Amino acid sequence: MENGARDLETARRAAFAAGATLLKYYEKLEPSMIQTKSARRDLVSEADVAAEKVILNEIRAAFPDDAIHAEESSRAAAGDAGAIWYIDPLDGTTNFVHGLPEFTVSIARFIDNEPAIGVVYAPRLDELYIARKGGGAYRNGAPIFVSKTPDLADALVATGFPYRRSELANPNLENFGRLFFKVRDLRRLGSAALDLAFVACGRFDAYWELNLERHDVAAGALIVREAGGRVTDLSGGDAWKSGRSILATNGELHEILRNTLIE
Ligand code: IPD
Ligand code: CA
Ligand code: CA
Repeated sequence: MENGARDLETARRAAFAAGATLLKYYEKLEPSMIQTKSARRDLVSEADVAAEKVILNEIRAAFPDDAIHAEESSRAAAGDAGAIWYIDPLDGTTNFVHGLPEFTVSIARFIDNEPAIGVVYAPRLDELYIARKGGGAYRNGAPIFVSKTPDLADALVATGFPYRRSELANPNLENFGRLFFKVRDLRRLGSAALDLAFVACGRFDAYWELNLERHDVAAGALIVREAGGRVTDLSGGDAWKSGRSILATNGELHEILRNTLIE
């Protein structure tokens, strides 16, 4: 198999294996298996760590020369050039810990700082979202597309709130207020990767968030783009890649949201 097909196949295999690992822990986590990270509400469990190991084994075996940025173990990737994998073994840890089914495994491979493939797997929902640059986006094998909603008043818009909210000048609360009366409704689902997948398949018309990290958005952003949507930071640029701010929409709503939301 040439590299082009092998990377997506490796990511898909790793995501399924990690999903199976997560489901072994789901609704069985003891308090002693959960710890806090940077902030009291920023959790990591034995499930996050076990799932990440499974993914790293698959990727290191198939692509030993690639750099890896994985949330729980190896954040420092080797710059932007070449091939880098971005791994979030469990996106939506808070949901997972509370027994909510909206959690995902998120895996992307970037080449020269551009997304090449993305996989978002929601094991409890039994939904696998994949995309390859230029190849379209798929859910469980069927093509997916963003919504066509042109008006904010008809839009279901998702967002998220940062763990370190009390330390930040803009914890995203004002943005929530700015849209509160303008949209059909707002959602806070709890997994950035799933928020993006839901924009890609038209369940959400748009999604924005501030203060994320690369591994949260790397896979989902490509899936949105390949489903016909638009992804930028809130200034219209590329800083979404660092997670600083991300706006993912069906395209129709992009500029109005960009002009309404603040970083
Ligand atoms: C979190 C989720 C959440 C977002 C947080 C992220 P984690 O990731 O994506 O939706 O609002 O800011 O950190 O910690 O569950 O991997
Ligand atoms: Ca995450
Ligand atoms: Ca995570």
